[in-house]
Amino acid sequence: MISLETNRALRDENTLHLPARALRFLRADQLDQAREAIELAREQRWPLLVLGGGSNLVLTRDFPGLCLQIALAGISHRPLDGEWVEVSAAAGESWHGFVEHCLMQGWYGLENLALIPGTVGASPIQNIGAYGVEIKDFFHELEAIDRTTGKLRRFTRAQCGFGYRDSVFKRDGRDRYVITQVTFRLRRKPRLNLAYGALAQALSHLESPGPRDLFNAVVALRRAKLPDPAQLPNVGSFFKNPVVSEGQFSQLKTQYPELVAFPDPKGVKLAAGWLIEKAGWKGVCDGGVAVHEAQALVLVNRGGARGEDVLRLAGRIQADIQARFGVGLEIEPRVY
Ligand code: FAD
Ligand code: EPU
Repeated sequence: MISLETNRALRDENTLHLPARALRFLRADQLDQAREAIELAREQRWPLLVLGGGSNLVLTRDFPGLCLQIALAGISHRPLDGEWVEVSAAAGESWHGFVEHCLMQGWYGLENLALIPGTVGASPIQNIGAYGVEIKDFFHELEAIDRTTGKLRRFTRAQCGFGYRDSVFKRDGRDRYVITQVTFRLRRKPRLNLAYGALAQALSHLESPGPRDLFNAVVALRRAKLPDPAQLPNVGSFFKNPVVSEGQFSQLKTQYPELVAFPDPKGVKLAAGWLIEKAGWKGVCDGGVAVHEAQALVLVNRGGARGEDVLRLAGRIQADIQARFGVGLEIEPRVY
């Protein structure tokens, strides 16, 4: 039997520290509790907000339904033939804790994704990525409760439709599934991914760096650039890096030879942080929300900001980048 909290503050449950309340709230640390809550919301026709660590959300208003925080815990593994091991983690496990656990067990591949905030269960939603790796590279399958039937369903990697900061859970499957467990296939012999220039450079003083060195280098790089949400509330990159056509890229490159861009299967991916910095937004503050001084792609709550303040500054930036460069910026976090 579950017991719901009412009129629950969500300020401490979202890393932008935005004030909002949920009419009803449950923190589920057992699968049965989550299923019961989903069933109840369906029967009562309450809207459902599934919450992990709240590190990719913008809360703009009080939530009129049930906020279900997924706190399921547990990690298990199964050695496979050859060099692989299958590792399953419950959705409520901390992502960074999981990455560190795998490293300590000698299961390799996720080192580049160290220190990303949030939960394992949210990791497939936008196919989290950093420093040359995305979870799709090591993802095997996941289990989710289908909110329309209450039944558990498995998704293979192909069924998840992963893309850059994208998956089926942001498109056709949006608001339909509650992820309960994610399974990865990891290596038992390390193979370091140093494709990201700054990482290779950070490790260049070592003759043969190991996975722990890589993990430490990622943590150090992230600490240098990204604000710690506990000190300066934020949700990481506020916009996706936009992908433009080769033609548009050449035009922009002629006009701005220092433009930062990367190859992409669908065209050329521009560094949105560069565009925003170039347009002079670094450090600009409006209504308590500011463009971070060390990383223009990050918006921070300097204190007292509300969701609408965040969206107002984001809108001003989007309009300016469109006007100056002819490039549209898409908001990365989910707006409620
Ligand atoms: P939440 O913010 O709680 O939820 C995000 C979305 O997922 C919501 O729509 C929610 O409904 C849904 N959701 C959450 N859990 C479940 C579930 N179990 N089942 C179904 N739906 C669910 N992201 C990157 O990709 N790369 C980075 O390098 C990166 N760096 C960051 C750095 C900082 C400082 C911060 C604050 C954020 C960063 N992020 C990054 C964004 C964020 O950490 C990830 O998107 C993370 O996966 C969000 O996890 P969460 O548990 O906090 O999700
Ligand atoms: N840049 C600037 N000014 C800035 C910020 C960036 O000029 O203020 C330029 C720099 O030249 C830099 C380039 O942009 O070389 C790329 O910057 P960075 O390496 O910091 O990465 P990013 O493109 O800004 C992306 C992800 C991050 C991820 C890092 C590392 C997106 C939207 N963001 O940021 O993910 O951690 O790469 O791989 O793809 C997130 O999604 O929340 C997130 C933090």
